[in-house]
Amino acid sequence: MTLPPLTRDEKVAFLNGQGLWRSRAVAGIPALVMTDGTHGLRYSTSQIDDAAQGLAAFLAVARGDTGMFGDTAPATCFPNACLSACSWDLDLAYRLGAALGIEARALGVNILLGPGINIRRTPLAGRAFEYFSEDPVLSGDLAAAMIRGLQDQGVGASLKHFACNNSEIARTTTSSDVDLRALREIYLAGFERAIAKADPWTVMAAYNPLNGVACAENGWLLTTVLREDWGYRGLVLSDWHAIRDRPASLLAGTDLDMPESAPRRAALSAAVAEGRVPEAALDAACARMARLVERAQAAPPAPPNDLAAHHDLARQIAAQSIVLLANDGTLPLAPCRLLVIGEGAIHPVIQGAGSATTRPTQVDQPLEALQRHYHCTHLPFGTAGEMLEAAAGQDAVLVFASHQGSREGEGADRDTLALAPGQSEVITALARAGHRVIVTLTCPDAVDLPWAEEVSAILCCFYPGQGGGAALRDILSGAVNPSGKLTTTFPLRMGDIPGFLSYPGENGHHSYGEGVFVGYRGYDQREMPVRYPFGHGLSYTTFRYEALRLSGAAIARGGGITAEVTLTNSGARRGKEIVQLYIRPLDPALRRPPRELKAFAKVDLQPGESTTLTFPLTDRDFCHFDPAEGRFVLRAKGFVIEAAASSRDIRLSERIDCVAEPAAAPPLRTGTPADVLLAHPPSARIVAEALTRCLPLSEPEADALVGRCRGSFLGLYDTLTWYVGPELSEAAFQAELDRGRDLLDLARNP
Ligand code: BGC
Repeated sequence: MTLPPLTRDEKVAFLNGQGLWRSRAVAGIPALVMTDGTHGLRYSTSQIDDAAQGLAAFLAVARGDTGMFGDTAPATCFPNACLSACSWDLDLAYRLGAALGIEARALGVNILLGPGINIRRTPLAGRAFEYFSEDPVLSGDLAAAMIRGLQDQGVGASLKHFACNNSEIARTTTSSDVDLRALREIYLAGFERAIAKADPWTVMAAYNPLNGVACAENGWLLTTVLREDWGYRGLVLSDWHAIRDRPASLLAGTDLDMPESAPRRAALSAAVAEGRVPEAALDAACARMARLVERAQAAPPAPPNDLAAHHDLARQIAAQSIVLLANDGTLPLAPCRLLVIGEGAIHPVIQGAGSATTRPTQVDQPLEALQRHYHCTHLPFGTAGEMLEAAAGQDAVLVFASHQGSREGEGADRDTLALAPGQSEVITALARAGHRVIVTLTCPDAVDLPWAEEVSAILCCFYPGQGGGAALRDILSGAVNPSGKLTTTFPLRMGDIPGFLSYPGENGHHSYGEGVFVGYRGYDQREMPVRYPFGHGLSYTTFRYEALRLSGAAIARGGGITAEVTLTNSGARRGKEIVQLYIRPLDPALRRPPRELKAFAKVDLQPGESTTLTFPLTDRDFCHFDPAEGRFVLRAKGFVIEAAASSRDIRLSERIDCVAEPAAAPPLRTGTPADVLLAHPPSARIVAEALTRCLPLSEPEADALVGRCRGSFLGLYDTLTWYVGPELSEAAFQAELDRGRDLLDLARNP
């Protein structure tokens, strides 16, 4: 779209919202409508149609207040990201995105404020349920598939929250203090991947400061990394009221300030008038805004919004995602007399709290679904005495357990991994009395399961959305063979969480002290036992992994390698397996996690059927980020490539060599430790040549002198003068070193 000529005030207005949920129409350019969220639409009729409804209602929802739906239009409540991610199914993620796109189109929504893909650094995080995983490859790939599905319907995504919104404690003021390597390898990597694969129309800058600078005002994040390094050409918008200094935010790279704010518009106008913000910066942001409107206008015709089909899809996603954590053979469960315990069977919690909530179109009640298959007796939780009495004569007990929910969700973290008071005691007592106990869990992320070894089976449903009840019944009965796998680790105890010691920070700073050792990377590095590892999930069938074949014997810069694995369904039922490909670096230049996920695939096999899966890996998959050089480097002795059923169930492995990039030259300074400098052959050569020019030494004499200095941890000049005395001038020697380095650079880059 060619922008019509706009006055300065019109430009400033174009870059600010109108009301809570619209961009502003200027000079004939139409407004865009935006709503939450990642798992279903939250379209508040009054807030969108009447801006004055404003802030109080917005805050109520973001705080997770009850009665939050108000006049929100009904929409399909799909499984929350904490569950749907466990499908590891990119096709399903695409279909979820497309369904959200269709519902958005039906309501006239142009931009959906999701997906959120922050790393689940701790299971306590209030918004963990909105995010996919503790791993960036999985998060990035799922987000990309979902974004493609959404945007193919003509609805733009808003990839959020960029970056490091990993806790809700003082969420707008606590600075996430993260080292450069952890940022690039973990916290930014999922965003980088999703952007490269799916080009989201917008990226949302997070509330929190990152390393002391508010994300929406962080030029390093929004310009250096996002635009310059990654080449992102879409629009950056702020999280709602995340901007404090509007001129600074525009200069840093936040194009659109959401929602409406007259004071922030005035501040920007004044800054432009006074020359503190160049008009060109305003124009560039307006051009991106115009391109966004143009993309929305190019939407294909909206297909019919089939809510019944979307309810089915919600059920399907739940059924393909629910994780069978443990099973002694009790499941699948044939029709029988079943004691069902817990309110969750009647009033299921299907979603987390906050802005990512949806008023469901309908909800499958688990008990009703179960009654079609089993003879059920239902009871709320009570004393174990009461529960033991009720269990007598039953064939099995199904317990609906849930995390201890005080006030978690958007705006608040959990402070415990415990289940709701009394639940663990009931479960333990029933199991110890010899009953077949099946536990089904509702939770945002990992919970404590102290009785895990004592019960017959555990199913984790996280927040299963409106179709969760039927999905659960289908898995219990065996109509669906479970195939979900965990996307985060379940620790044995809260204190084991890798970031535990520095969480949640203090004095306005939250230091991510564990660096790159997040999630399974941290548990593996410390060789800690866990309750259930990342990638774990059982099936009613079994799979055989065979013949891991690699396309080459070594990885080098600019190259790649393809891994092939043959998988066979070795059991008696049709089932789906999620094959995970990890790499294990051998002797890397910097300390690296023992294993890192690099690829995965989900495949559906009939009993006895085999297939060969192909995983192409690029050189970048083997790199780590070197903060000293400010780039990803390939530097290790070799790698082990592992085909695995979980991060702790490695089935096959093969080793490859690595053609390592040369190590960066140490600083060619007189004060650099002699052993460091002389271990680098080109630098040692320069030193020897500089010595022949500064002292009356022949080449062999200079080489001999260099030889004597090797092994000294003292500075080069201090070491040399120990042998040759003060006639070696430090300034002249440094000048010769500089000359030598310049000549070498010239020879390398003529
Ligand atoms: C949340 C965002 C959400 C926005 C609009 C903010 O409070 O952090 O995730 O998209 O509100 O509801």
